[in-house]
Amino acid sequence: MSKFKYPATEIITKRFSCRDYSLELVDAEKQEKLLAYIHDLPPAPFGSTPRFDLLAASKGDSKSLRGLGTYGFIKNPSAFILGAMPSGELAYDLEDYGYLMEMIILYATSLELGTCWLGGTFTKSRFAKKINLAANETMPAITAMGEYRDADQKRRGWTSKAAGSARRLPWDKFFFNIMLDTPLIRNEAGKYATALEMVRIAPSASNKQPCRVLKYKNFWRFYLRRTPGYKGDIIKKFLRLCDLQRVDMGIAMSHFELTAKELGLKGKWVVEDDLDKNPAALTEYIVSWERLN
Ligand SMILES: Cc1cc2nc3c(=O)[nH]c(=O)nc-3n(C[C@H](O)[C@H](O)[C@H](O)COP(=O)(O)O)c2cc1C
Repeated sequence: MSKFKYPATEIITKRFSCRDYSLELVDAEKQEKLLAYIHDLPPAPFGSTPRFDLLAASKGDSKSLRGLGTYGFIKNPSAFILGAMPSGELAYDLEDYGYLMEMIILYATSLELGTCWLGGTFTKSRFAKKINLAANETMPAITAMGEYRDADQKRRGWTSKAAGSARRLPWDKFFFNIMLDTPLIRNEAGKYATALEMVRIAPSASNKQPCRVLKYKNFWRFYLRRTPGYKGDIIKKFLRLCDLQRVDMGIAMSHFELTAKELGLKGKWVVEDDLDKNPAALTEYIVSWERLN
Protein backbone atom coordinates (compact mmCIF):
# COMPACT_ATOMS: atom_id res chain seq x y z
CA MET A 1 0.00 0.00 0.00
CA SER A 2 1.07 3.55 -0.68
CA LYS A 3 2.55 5.35 2.30
CA PHE A 4 1.63 8.74 0.90
CA LYS A 5 -0.57 11.06 2.86
CA TYR A 6 -2.48 12.20 -0.25
CA PRO A 7 -3.57 10.38 -3.40
CA ALA A 8 -0.65 9.77 -5.76
CA THR A 9 -2.32 11.71 -8.58
CA GLU A 10 -2.58 14.75 -6.31
CA ILE A 11 1.08 14.53 -5.29
CA ILE A 12 2.31 13.95 -8.83
CA THR A 13 0.33 16.96 -9.99
CA LYS A 14 1.61 19.07 -7.13
CA ARG A 15 5.33 18.35 -7.65
CA PHE A 16 7.42 20.88 -9.53
CA SER A 17 11.16 21.57 -9.68
CA CYS A 18 11.78 23.93 -6.79
CA ARG A 19 15.07 25.82 -7.12
CA ASP A 20 14.70 28.42 -4.37
CA TYR A 21 14.10 27.29 -0.80
CA SER A 22 13.39 28.81 2.59
CA LEU A 23 16.33 29.41 4.95
CA GLU A 24 14.58 27.12 7.44
CA LEU A 25 15.99 23.66 8.01
CA VAL A 26 13.97 20.63 7.03
CA ASP A 27 11.78 19.88 10.01
CA ALA A 28 13.19 17.04 12.18
CA GLU A 29 10.00 14.99 12.03
CA LYS A 30 10.00 15.17 8.26
CA GLN A 31 13.63 14.07 8.20
CA GLU A 32 12.77 11.05 10.31
CA LYS A 33 9.86 10.12 8.08
CA LEU A 34 11.99 10.48 4.98
CA LEU A 35 14.71 8.27 6.41
CA ALA A 36 12.13 5.67 7.38
CA TYR A 37 10.68 5.79 3.86
CA ILE A 38 14.15 5.43 2.29
CA HIS A 39 14.86 2.51 4.57
CA ASP A 40 11.66 0.80 3.53
CA LEU A 41 11.55 1.58 -0.20
CA PRO A 42 9.45 -0.66 -2.43
CA PRO A 43 11.39 -3.04 -4.67
CA ALA A 44 12.55 -1.57 -7.98
CA PRO A 45 10.88 -3.08 -11.08
CA PHE A 46 14.07 -4.62 -12.49
CA GLY A 47 15.54 -5.70 -9.16
CA SER A 48 18.43 -3.24 -8.71
CA THR A 49 19.20 -2.13 -5.19
CA PRO A 50 20.69 1.37 -5.24
CA ARG A 51 21.36 2.88 -1.83
CA PHE A 52 19.97 6.30 -0.92
CA ASP A 53 20.70 8.64 1.94
CA LEU A 54 19.45 11.94 3.28
CA LEU A 55 22.02 14.68 3.72
CA ALA A 56 20.45 17.45 5.77
CA ALA A 57 21.88 20.62 7.29
CA SER A 58 21.59 20.65 11.05
CA LYS A 59 21.02 23.37 13.62
CA GLY A 60 24.12 25.48 14.16
CA ASP A 61 25.36 24.28 10.79
CA SER A 62 22.51 25.62 8.67
CA LYS A 63 24.75 27.08 6.00
CA SER A 64 26.76 23.92 5.46
CA LEU A 65 24.96 22.75 2.35
CA ARG A 66 24.32 26.07 0.71
CA GLY A 67 27.45 26.28 -1.33
CA LEU A 68 27.73 22.57 -1.95
CA GLY A 69 28.35 22.25 -5.64
CA THR A 70 25.12 23.16 -7.38
CA TYR A 71 26.77 25.88 -9.49
CA GLY A 72 24.39 28.45 -8.01
CA PHE A 73 21.37 26.96 -9.79
CA ILE A 74 19.77 25.97 -6.50
CA LYS A 75 19.18 28.61 -3.85
CA ASN A 76 19.36 27.65 -0.16
CA PRO A 77 18.89 23.88 -0.35
CA SER A 78 18.84 22.57 3.21
CA ALA A 79 18.95 18.90 2.28
CA PHE A 80 19.80 16.50 -0.53
CA ILE A 81 18.85 12.95 -1.31
CA LEU A 82 21.97 11.20 -2.53
CA GLY A 83 22.10 7.82 -4.17
CA ALA A 84 24.69 5.34 -5.34
CA MET A 85 24.75 2.00 -7.11
CA PRO A 86 27.26 -0.42 -8.59
CA SER A 87 28.00 0.76 -12.13
CA GLY A 88 26.52 -1.32 -14.90
CA GLU A 89 25.53 -4.19 -12.60
CA LEU A 90 22.15 -4.74 -14.22
CA ALA A 91 20.87 -3.81 -17.68
CA TYR A 92 18.08 -1.62 -16.31
CA ASP A 93 19.83 -0.09 -13.32
CA LEU A 94 19.29 3.53 -14.39
CA GLU A 95 15.56 2.98 -14.90
CA ASP A 96 15.40 1.45 -11.42
CA TYR A 97 17.32 4.40 -9.99
CA GLY A 98 14.88 6.86 -11.58
CA TYR A 99 11.89 4.87 -10.32
CA LEU A 100 13.10 4.75 -6.71
CA MET A 101 14.41 8.31 -6.49
CA GLU A 102 11.08 9.58 -7.88
CA MET A 103 9.24 7.57 -5.20
CA ILE A 104 11.34 9.38 -2.57
CA ILE A 105 10.64 12.72 -4.27
CA LEU A 106 6.91 12.08 -4.28
CA TYR A 107 7.03 11.07 -0.64
CA ALA A 108 8.91 14.31 0.14
CA THR A 109 6.27 16.24 -1.85
CA SER A 110 3.57 14.64 0.30
CA LEU A 111 5.48 15.96 3.34
CA GLU A 112 5.21 19.42 1.76
CA LEU A 113 8.89 19.66 0.88
CA GLY A 114 10.18 21.22 -2.31
CA THR A 115 12.50 19.11 -4.48
CA CYS A 116 14.55 19.32 -7.67
CA TRP A 117 16.21 16.48 -9.55
CA LEU A 118 19.86 17.27 -10.35
CA GLY A 119 21.46 15.19 -13.05
CA GLY A 120 23.81 17.73 -14.51
CA THR A 121 24.14 20.81 -12.38
CA PHE A 122 25.97 19.36 -9.41
CA THR A 123 29.60 18.63 -8.64
CA LYS A 124 29.80 14.86 -8.45
CA SER A 125 33.03 14.70 -6.48
CA ARG A 126 31.72 16.79 -3.59
CA PHE A 127 28.56 14.78 -3.18
CA ALA A 128 30.41 11.51 -3.79
CA LYS A 129 32.43 12.18 -0.64
CA LYS A 130 29.25 12.70 1.36
CA ILE A 131 27.89 9.27 0.45
CA ASN A 132 31.30 7.53 0.51
CA LEU A 133 31.00 6.52 -3.10
CA ALA A 134 33.01 3.35 -3.68
CA ALA A 135 35.25 2.90 -6.73
CA ASN A 136 32.79 0.51 -8.37
CA GLU A 137 29.77 2.75 -7.73
CA THR A 138 28.19 5.62 -9.63
CA MET A 139 25.89 8.41 -8.50
CA PRO A 140 23.61 9.00 -11.52
CA ALA A 141 21.68 11.98 -10.11
CA ILE A 142 20.75 13.54 -6.80
CA THR A 143 17.83 15.59 -5.46
CA ALA A 144 17.98 19.01 -3.86
CA MET A 145 15.40 19.57 -1.16
CA GLY A 146 14.12 22.09 1.32
CA GLU A 147 11.12 23.76 2.90
CA TYR A 148 9.19 25.95 0.49
CA ARG A 149 10.25 29.59 0.62
CA ASP A 150 6.77 31.00 1.12
CA ALA A 151 3.11 30.14 1.06
CA ASP A 152 2.77 31.18 -2.57
CA GLN A 153 5.41 28.74 -3.61
CA LYS A 154 3.78 26.04 -1.49
CA ARG A 155 0.50 26.66 -3.25
CA ARG A 156 2.19 26.81 -6.61
CA GLY A 157 2.14 23.08 -7.07
CA TRP A 158 -1.54 22.85 -6.28
CA THR A 159 -2.46 25.65 -8.62
CA SER A 160 0.06 25.37 -11.44
CA LYS A 161 -1.31 22.17 -12.88
CA ALA A 162 -1.97 23.94 -16.13
CA ALA A 163 1.48 25.57 -16.15
CA GLY A 164 3.22 22.23 -15.59
CA SER A 165 1.24 20.35 -18.16
CA ALA A 166 1.43 23.23 -20.61
CA ARG A 167 5.19 22.68 -20.70
CA ARG A 168 4.65 19.09 -21.80
CA LEU A 169 4.14 17.60 -25.24
CA PRO A 170 0.51 16.97 -26.17
CA TRP A 171 -1.05 13.49 -25.82
CA ASP A 172 -0.67 12.60 -29.47
CA LYS A 173 3.13 12.88 -29.24
CA PHE A 174 3.30 10.63 -26.18
CA PHE A 175 0.77 7.83 -26.57
CA PHE A 176 0.13 5.46 -29.46
CA ASN A 177 -2.28 2.72 -30.40
CA ILE A 178 -1.03 -0.57 -31.90
CA MET A 179 1.50 1.21 -34.14
CA LEU A 180 4.08 3.79 -33.08
CA ASP A 181 2.79 6.23 -35.71
CA THR A 182 -0.87 6.04 -34.69
CA PRO A 183 -1.77 8.43 -31.85
CA LEU A 184 -3.96 7.06 -29.08
CA ILE A 185 -7.19 8.97 -28.64
CA ARG A 186 -7.84 9.69 -24.97
CA ASN A 187 -10.98 7.57 -24.71
CA GLU A 188 -9.10 4.61 -26.21
CA ALA A 189 -6.98 4.67 -23.04
CA GLY A 190 -10.06 3.68 -21.02
CA LYS A 191 -9.36 3.32 -17.30
CA TYR A 192 -5.66 4.01 -17.93
CA ALA A 193 -6.19 7.59 -19.13
CA THR A 194 -5.19 9.06 -15.74
CA ALA A 195 -2.11 6.83 -15.41
CA LEU A 196 -0.99 8.02 -18.86
CA GLU A 197 -1.62 11.64 -17.96
CA MET A 198 0.63 11.17 -14.91
CA VAL A 199 3.34 9.86 -17.27
CA ARG A 200 2.88 12.92 -19.44
CA ILE A 201 3.42 15.38 -16.59
CA ALA A 202 6.44 13.50 -15.18
CA PRO A 203 9.69 15.44 -14.84
CA SER A 204 12.51 14.65 -17.24
CA ALA A 205 16.06 15.86 -17.71
CA SER A 206 15.97 19.23 -19.52
CA ASN A 207 12.23 18.59 -19.94
CA LYS A 208 12.99 16.47 -23.04
CA GLN A 209 10.15 14.02 -22.27
CA PRO A 210 11.58 10.94 -23.97
CA CYS A 211 8.96 8.40 -22.82
CA ARG A 212 6.48 6.98 -25.37
CA VAL A 213 3.74 4.50 -24.51
CA LEU A 214 2.08 2.15 -26.98
CA LYS A 215 -1.16 0.30 -26.31
CA TYR A 216 -1.02 -3.21 -27.74
CA LYS A 217 -3.62 -5.79 -26.71
CA ASN A 218 -3.25 -6.16 -22.93
CA PHE A 219 0.14 -4.44 -22.84
CA TRP A 220 1.22 -0.85 -22.36
CA ARG A 221 4.65 -0.83 -24.00
CA PHE A 222 7.14 1.77 -22.83
CA TYR A 223 9.66 3.09 -25.36
CA LEU A 224 12.50 5.56 -25.01
CA ARG A 225 12.49 8.03 -27.89
CA ARG A 226 15.93 9.61 -27.68
CA THR A 227 16.32 13.32 -28.20
CA PRO A 228 18.60 13.75 -31.24
CA GLY A 229 22.15 14.67 -30.19
CA TYR A 230 21.29 14.58 -26.48
CA LYS A 231 23.17 11.45 -25.38
CA GLY A 232 26.34 12.10 -27.31
CA ASP A 233 26.60 15.79 -26.55
CA ILE A 234 30.30 16.65 -26.01
CA ILE A 235 29.64 18.70 -22.86
CA LYS A 236 27.74 15.77 -21.33
CA LYS A 237 30.60 13.41 -22.11
CA PHE A 238 33.02 15.89 -20.56
CA LEU A 239 30.91 16.11 -17.40
CA ARG A 240 30.60 12.30 -17.39
CA LEU A 241 26.84 12.50 -17.14
CA CYS A 242 24.99 9.23 -17.11
CA ASP A 243 22.26 8.34 -19.57
CA LEU A 244 19.64 10.55 -17.93
CA GLN A 245 16.95 9.64 -20.46
CA ARG A 246 16.93 6.12 -19.03
CA VAL A 247 16.49 7.66 -15.57
CA ASP A 248 13.51 9.56 -17.07
CA MET A 249 11.99 6.23 -18.13
CA GLY A 250 12.09 4.96 -14.56
CA ILE A 251 10.39 8.15 -13.38
CA ALA A 252 7.60 7.65 -15.93
CA MET A 253 7.19 4.04 -14.79
CA SER A 254 6.81 5.08 -11.15
CA HIS A 255 4.06 7.59 -12.01
CA PHE A 256 2.23 5.02 -14.13
CA GLU A 257 2.40 2.23 -11.58
CA LEU A 258 1.46 4.37 -8.58
CA THR A 259 -1.58 5.73 -10.41
CA ALA A 260 -2.68 2.37 -11.79
CA LYS A 261 -2.46 0.78 -8.36
CA GLU A 262 -4.35 3.61 -6.75
CA LEU A 263 -7.14 3.15 -9.30
CA GLY A 264 -7.26 -0.59 -8.60
CA LEU A 265 -5.86 -1.49 -12.02
CA LYS A 266 -3.90 -4.69 -11.64
CA GLY A 267 -0.80 -5.33 -13.69
CA LYS A 268 2.91 -6.06 -13.61
CA TRP A 269 6.09 -5.02 -15.40
CA VAL A 270 7.38 -7.51 -17.97
CA VAL A 271 10.05 -7.38 -20.63
CA GLU A 272 8.68 -8.88 -23.84
CA ASP A 273 11.77 -10.60 -25.14
CA ASP A 274 10.50 -11.28 -28.64
CA LEU A 275 9.81 -7.62 -29.49
CA ASP A 276 11.79 -5.54 -31.95
CA LYS A 277 14.01 -3.56 -29.56
CA ASN A 278 14.58 -0.69 -32.03
CA PRO A 279 11.33 -0.35 -33.97
CA ALA A 280 12.03 3.17 -35.25
CA ALA A 281 14.87 5.69 -35.43
CA LEU A 282 16.14 6.72 -31.98
CA THR A 283 13.48 4.52 -30.39
CA GLU A 284 14.27 1.76 -27.89
CA TYR A 285 11.83 -0.67 -26.31
CA ILE A 286 12.26 -0.71 -22.51
CA VAL A 287 9.43 -2.52 -20.74
CA SER A 288 5.70 -3.31 -20.79
CA TRP A 289 2.96 -3.07 -18.21
CA GLU A 290 0.86 -6.20 -18.59
CA ARG A 291 -2.74 -5.59 -17.62
CA LEU A 292 -4.17 -8.27 -15.38
CA ASN A 293 -7.75 -7.00 -15.11
C1 LIG B 1 16.89 13.01 -14.43
C2 LIG B 1 16.68 14.50 -14.28
C3 LIG B 1 17.77 15.35 -14.18
C4 LIG B 1 17.57 16.73 -14.00
N1 LIG B 1 18.68 17.54 -13.83
C5 LIG B 1 18.50 18.86 -13.55
C6 LIG B 1 19.63 19.69 -13.27
O1 LIG B 1 20.78 19.24 -13.32
N2 LIG B 1 19.40 20.98 -12.96
C7 LIG B 1 18.13 21.51 -12.89
O2 LIG B 1 18.00 22.70 -12.57
N3 LIG B 1 17.03 20.75 -13.16
C8 LIG B 1 17.18 19.44 -13.48
N4 LIG B 1 16.08 18.63 -13.71
C9 LIG B 1 14.73 19.20 -13.63
C10 LIG B 1 14.08 19.33 -15.02
O3 LIG B 1 14.64 20.42 -15.71
C11 LIG B 1 12.55 19.51 -14.83
O4 LIG B 1 12.06 18.33 -14.25
C12 LIG B 1 11.81 19.77 -16.12
O5 LIG B 1 12.22 20.97 -16.69
C13 LIG B 1 10.29 19.80 -15.89
O6 LIG B 1 9.92 20.78 -14.94
P1 LIG B 1 9.17 20.43 -13.58
O7 LIG B 1 10.03 19.44 -12.84
O8 LIG B 1 9.01 21.74 -12.86
O9 LIG B 1 7.83 19.80 -13.92
C14 LIG B 1 16.25 17.27 -13.95
C15 LIG B 1 15.17 16.40 -14.07
C16 LIG B 1 15.37 15.03 -14.23
C17 LIG B 1 14.18 14.14 -14.30
